[in-house]
Amino acid sequence: MFVFDAYGTLLDVDAAAREAAAEPGMEALKENWLPIAKGWRERQLRYSWLCSMMGKYDDFWELTIRALDTTLEEHALASNDKVRARLLSLYSELSAYQEVPEVLANLKAAGHRLAVLSNASPSMLVKALDAAGISEWFDELLSVDVLKCYKPTPAVYQLIPERFDCKPSDVTFFSSNNWDVSGAGAFGFKTIWVNRTGVAWDNLPGKPDIIVNSISEAQLNI
Ligand code: LAC
Repeated sequence: MFVFDAYGTLLDVDAAAREAAAEPGMEALKENWLPIAKGWRERQLRYSWLCSMMGKYDDFWELTIRALDTTLEEHALASNDKVRARLLSLYSELSAYQEVPEVLANLKAAGHRLAVLSNASPSMLVKALDAAGISEWFDELLSVDVLKCYKPTPAVYQLIPERFDCKPSDVTFFSSNNWDVSGAGAFGFKTIWVNRTGVAWDNLPGKPDIIVNSISEAQLNI
């Protein structure tokens, strides 16, 4: 079976800042939407790892808001309520990467079971995948929320074999996040690293079985 990470893998995490910057009245984002998108994402993930280590769980939407607030402060935009509200609204309905719907349709038509395993809270995940128009392809949307800790905690990956009554080695896991590939590989999944931007592999356990630059390319390798 095939399991997908959501943010960065299926959903374009830079789309909120990029799209907001192109809108009238959002001049404050014109020059710096990309560093804001990168800083926001990096902080959102860092908060998830650190909160897991501290045993302090707040859901992923809450961490997303806090990460944005600090990032806006860093860019002297903390008082711009209009920018903040627009970024959060767009982030709750991110678009899927262009190739994603067709690949999911093909995998489903070939009879594969498909699932999502995400840090996102169930409501955040359902809203995002519905807005991206891709929820219909999945048998299950699994969230870390039942465990109150984040990836790459092994118990999170264990949710899949438990739910689908399968072995870790029966699962092929797609993620664009190299630390997530690492966690899934170390747990025992086969892994496909969707390295969309050609970054270096972090020297962590659980090297990817396959490296591709898009999910369409992955489809040719499985
Ligand atoms: C997720 C984050 C890690 O969807 O992208 O789980």
